[in-house]
Amino acid sequence: MGKRAGSAAGGSKAGGAKAKAAGGKVKAASGKVKAGAATAQGAAALAWLKDNRQAGIGRLVDWLKIPSISTDPAYSQDVARAAKWAADRLAEAGLKVEICPTGTKEKPGHPVVLATCEGDAEYAGPHVLFYGHYDVQPCDPLELWESPPFEPVIRGPRTGEAGGERVVARGAVDDKGQVMMFLEALAAWKAASGKPAGGMRLTVMLEGEEESGSANLDAFVRSRKKQLKACEVCVISDTGMLDRGKPAITYGVRGLAYTEVVLHAANQDLHSGLWGGRCPNPITELTRVLAQLHDGKRRVTIPGFYDAVRPLSKAERANWAGLGFNAAAALKKIGLSAAADVGEAGFTTLEREWGRPTAEINGIVGGYTGKGAKTVIPAMASAKVSFRLVADQDPAKITKAFFAWCKERTPPGCRWELIDHHGGYGVTVPIDSPHLEAAQGAIQAATSKRAALIKSGGSIPVAGMLKSELGIDTIFMGFGLDDDRVHSPNEKFELECFDMGARSHVLLIERLLGHKG
Ligand code: BES
Ligand code: MN
Ligand code: MN
Repeated sequence: MGKRAGSAAGGSKAGGAKAKAAGGKVKAASGKVKAGAATAQGAAALAWLKDNRQAGIGRLVDWLKIPSISTDPAYSQDVARAAKWAADRLAEAGLKVEICPTGTKEKPGHPVVLATCEGDAEYAGPHVLFYGHYDVQPCDPLELWESPPFEPVIRGPRTGEAGGERVVARGAVDDKGQVMMFLEALAAWKAASGKPAGGMRLTVMLEGEEESGSANLDAFVRSRKKQLKACEVCVISDTGMLDRGKPAITYGVRGLAYTEVVLHAANQDLHSGLWGGRCPNPITELTRVLAQLHDGKRRVTIPGFYDAVRPLSKAERANWAGLGFNAAAALKKIGLSAAADVGEAGFTTLEREWGRPTAEINGIVGGYTGKGAKTVIPAMASAKVSFRLVADQDPAKITKAFFAWCKERTPPGCRWELIDHHGGYGVTVPIDSPHLEAAQGAIQAATSKRAALIKSGGSIPVAGMLKSELGIDTIFMGFGLDDDRVHSPNEKFELECFDMGARSHVLLIERLLGHKG
């Protein structure tokens, strides 16, 4: 999730951490960094967080026990339970909560938890929309988990592992643990002020289908357009930090177009001795086509693929270069040598991840994959092919262009079945907005560190939707680390990150409350 070694990026100035801190440090050794709360109520909210830390971790553990896997219909009752669990926490924090069904009668989706508080009449800050997702990825391969994915364990690092105490479970960092930081911040403000969110105007939207492509979110957002349009900025905690102890604000995520291509040949599996050489082998033919996806410079060959890609600016390239990112060290962590630093020619690692689109084959199956040997020419072969998109690339257009490209290459005698799974636009938000400055200030006050400005190659479909349908920008304030094993066995969230995130959210609310018209 997070990003690696390096120093903070340039960007907007500190968000005016002012007045005397009512709690915690006022000045760090540098004399520049102000830390802690700026108001008595903020200090009380931070104190509540500290006093209730164990209980908060216990609450997270409870939520993590619910196997809310959104892709697998077998878990739909559990997904609903996880929604109800979050709704109860929001109600306890004083918000008005609705559990909203999505989809249609024939094809029901998972619910969206929508909660609101009106805020004080004198509240002069922006109406904030907090988005998170309570669904999780499937757990396979199950045998690689050291402890069962839905029996959360709090433990220290194993020998050779970096970091401190962590909670290990599916959803620990993506995204229940990060949503929990915000739920704890709301509980803290309720306790400190007696008011929901301390009196700020807030809408909370928790989705149950992010990991399966947010299929029903678009329709949901449109159906609630009037209500959601009142929001001025979205806050999402579903991204990572620059490195351990190095908080970051992510100012852009990539878009996604996800497809599946199935190549059908004969109407039955065939003996490869009797039929080999006489008719198409769909695995051979499919891989011949897919091998053409990239040219010698590892650029995607689909006509028009790069049309809407905005070139990287000099300033941005310089900022990223200044992060001191060590590509070789990152590769080493995943068992690769520096020779594996490959991708589109002419761009650095960070440029390729943050600012360039890609085509990836995510899975490919066909024929005999069991033990031993079987001489067969299968009737079909299939592949999952997805594209990470940047800037203005339209996922629907990219999918269409890819399918047309496939059809032009239909192997003789074969037939395509082309499936459009899901997609979403990428987003980049301005780095000089007052909202981003508020987040910067909050993180600085919470951690005594200045957040680095980074982008991420991952995708969060709601962000593009909010921008295109409601015109709302998003602040991605996430606290994951790049060794958190997101989507993998033994997913974890380090408690130090959890604490930093909860404090940062408490102080973000404080800042917004202190906003003067
Ligand atoms: N939280 C992740 C995305 C992410 C991770 C963004 C780290 C930035 C840093 C999110 O839950 C996710 O996994 N998104 C999917 C897309 C979705 C449509 C399945 C992804 O990026 O593959
Ligand atoms: Mn996520
Ligand atoms: Mn995810």
